[in-house]
Amino acid sequence: MSMDKHIALVGCGKAGLSLALALRSAGWAVDGCMSRSPESSELGAQWLACRALSSVAQIPAGVILVLGVPEAAFGDVDRRIAAEDTHLEGRVILHLSGALPARALEICRLRGASVGSFHPIMTLPDPITGARRLKGATFALEGRPAAVEAMRAMAQSLSGKFFTLSPRGKTLYHAAAVVASNHVLALLADSQDMLVKAGVDPAAAHEAFYALVQGTVESFYAGGAVATITGPVERGDAKTIRNHLQALKRSPKILERYRVAALGMLELARKRHPERDEANDTLAKLLAEWQSK
Ligand SMILES: NC(=O)c1ccc[n+]([C@@H]2O[C@H](COP(=O)([O-])OP(=O)(O)OC[C@H]3O[C@@H](n4cnc5c(N)ncnc54)[C@H](OP(=O)(O)O)[C@@H]3O)[C@@H](O)[C@H]2O)c1
Repeated sequence: MSMDKHIALVGCGKAGLSLALALRSAGWAVDGCMSRSPESSELGAQWLACRALSSVAQIPAGVILVLGVPEAAFGDVDRRIAAEDTHLEGRVILHLSGALPARALEICRLRGASVGSFHPIMTLPDPITGARRLKGATFALEGRPAAVEAMRAMAQSLSGKFFTLSPRGKTLYHAAAVVASNHVLALLADSQDMLVKAGVDPAAAHEAFYALVQGTVESFYAGGAVATITGPVERGDAKTIRNHLQALKRSPKILERYRVAALGMLELARKRHPERDEANDTLAKLLAEWQSK
């Protein structure tokens, strides 16, 4: 019997259950699942209408192993699978971490498994919401050729988009994702703080820039960063920037982040207006040398 589109899940948490549920409704077979505790394995088996396993030795050759365990458990799980799996040679084993490359499953890899990392670029807070969000999601794939082939099939079954990464690019990829989500959030929080300090009612401050942020994000995805920039840095308006830095003197941490982000904007402004060298140099000097008085 062909074992195409057969998976077994190790680690019945939010991400693992979301993916297994989504694949199941896309026609894949879930042959079994196991977790840290027997209770968690049983619960997983109920979610997925499959067998609860007590060892990977129960998983037939050719079934893809999906690891939904946290990064901190990779070492243990890698060792345990290598010790128990009697069909390890050629087995496709996928983890779901964005932070670590496929080769984090070092022992299994050295014993002949085809390891891969299948990172859904999506938050999966619970199995139902997660399974819904995974349909049409984007996935970052990295790993051995047979693993990449299996991951492509998974992404395609979920009507998703995907791209492949080299093992060397994996960490930088994850840092990029952190900037796009977490660090953007940190700047939005600064902006809201500044509004409240400016005297805007906190409830109004939470809503005030929503349309502004949406507009920026839409323009960025439509035309890219250089085409999107507007504002005082783009205009080379050193006087306004000086006033901003002055206005932030009682918020030194926000001031520091403002300064660093403005230097990033200046790099975009230089690309947009290479002819404005002098004005851009003045801004660079102002931002680099500013000390709160
Ligand atoms: N959730 C997301 O939004 C998301 C998105 C993309 C990628 N990921 C990735 O998915 C992976 C899992 O994250 P998660 O959010 O799903 O975590 P989680 O909800 O905490 O689930 C982790 C699961 O792994 C099980 N587990 C822990 N140690 C184990 C071990 N030694 N052996 C077997 N099972 C073990 C836990 O068992 P118990 O139930 O017994 O505690 C739990 O069911 C991580 O690599 C994460 O980066 C998560």
